[in-house]
Amino acid sequence: MVSDTMATGEALHGSGLTIDQSKRPDISYHPDEAKWRALTARRLAEDPSLPHTPLPQGFPKQLAGPLVWEGKQWADEDLWVYSLSEEELQEIDKAVHYFEDSGHSLTQVDQTTFPLPKLSHTLHNLAAELYAGRGFFLLRSIPTSIYTPSQNTLIYLGISAYIAPTIASQDPSNGSMVGHITDLSSKDENGRPGAPAYRNVSQPFHSDPGDIVSLFTLGEAEEGGESKLVSAWRVYNELAETRPDLVKVLAEPFPLEVSGVLAANRNAPYQLRPFLYKCPQDDRIIIQFSRRLATGFQDRPRSPAIPPLTEAQAEAIDALHFLSEKHCLTMKLRTGDIQYVSNLGLFHAREGFVDSPQNKRHLLRLWLRNEEMAWPTPPALQVRYNNLFKKVPEDRQRFPVEPEVRSMYRGPSLENKAKA
Ligand SMILES: [Fe+2]
Repeated sequence: MVSDTMATGEALHGSGLTIDQSKRPDISYHPDEAKWRALTARRLAEDPSLPHTPLPQGFPKQLAGPLVWEGKQWADEDLWVYSLSEEELQEIDKAVHYFEDSGHSLTQVDQTTFPLPKLSHTLHNLAAELYAGRGFFLLRSIPTSIYTPSQNTLIYLGISAYIAPTIASQDPSNGSMVGHITDLSSKDENGRPGAPAYRNVSQPFHSDPGDIVSLFTLGEAEEGGESKLVSAWRVYNELAETRPDLVKVLAEPFPLEVSGVLAANRNAPYQLRPFLYKCPQDDRIIIQFSRRLATGFQDRPRSPAIPPLTEAQAEAIDALHFLSEKHCLTMKLRTGDIQYVSNLGLFHAREGFVDSPQNKRHLLRLWLRNEEMAWPTPPALQVRYNNLFKKVPEDRQRFPVEPEVRSMYRGPSLENKAKA
């Protein structure tokens, strides 16, 4: 096996040797509860001492604070939905016209070019909720139908400039700063884009890259598509109490598909990294968890060039999912809603959906960070964060109005293309 460290600093691994895939655990992108329970029962029968495994050095027995919650606490949506008043919507409308009259481009959206003098204080307090509170909120709701697609993008960027001004590119290969989450099967060259964001299937619990993921709803499906959030800290607490061995597994490196800027390096088909990180200064745990990078997704199965997951790793990622199902909050995103969610302490998921000619699910997505409120970055995440939030030169930034599939997920995978 050849390993190298790219200029990015991420540990990547090549495929110099044949890899034995015969011990690959039976796990796929969509979790199967019966298989998970059977695997758990078998592993515990084989080694009853597993639940007595010590937690990794320095990892807390229990996390505490407002980020630890259960979905049933939020049954009253008035606790986490901020409904914009008529006066606040007028202020946003005024900012749209001020920005356009000033002749700015979308690369120049900030608090000076998109002034919200009254709403700014509220948005600042809501941003604090992401880093020091429950970790999510919803803004309801922008009257999207009275604006052009470009103006809706401007409003989204303008409000987000007060929540978390640093934006990560959605597609570093082409400088796209805003993602479109919608079923693009009909626009893909083989009808099956390689990531669930561009399909209508359900997405199991995971976190996106970076501090905050946000979704702006431009259209709702005919049926389904509900958003689900869970306190990953609540899930951690249950695992730490009942299965500390799985916390240990999650804090150790997994062999994963490469993604984002690293995906360009085709000589390095996998990366090694954990899903759990500990803040160096205190007890906080940061979870950066992608099930898809561990299991592959439908036409993009896990590459045979990546060593198989262990059974312990398979059990651990299923445990994250099914404990998340147990404690989650489910919400309906309505047209005009903007959802902001911490990736540091929450997981998110979504139900599958069905579109109709009249009603098509369509969301804009941003990946964000508020440098003033941000948690200290663990050293093991530093390079990943530097890459993610590296400033994209203004002349490369794109704000596509038409939905597009991220370039790395168009058509069949390179490996499947080679086989065809
Ligand atoms: Fe996501």
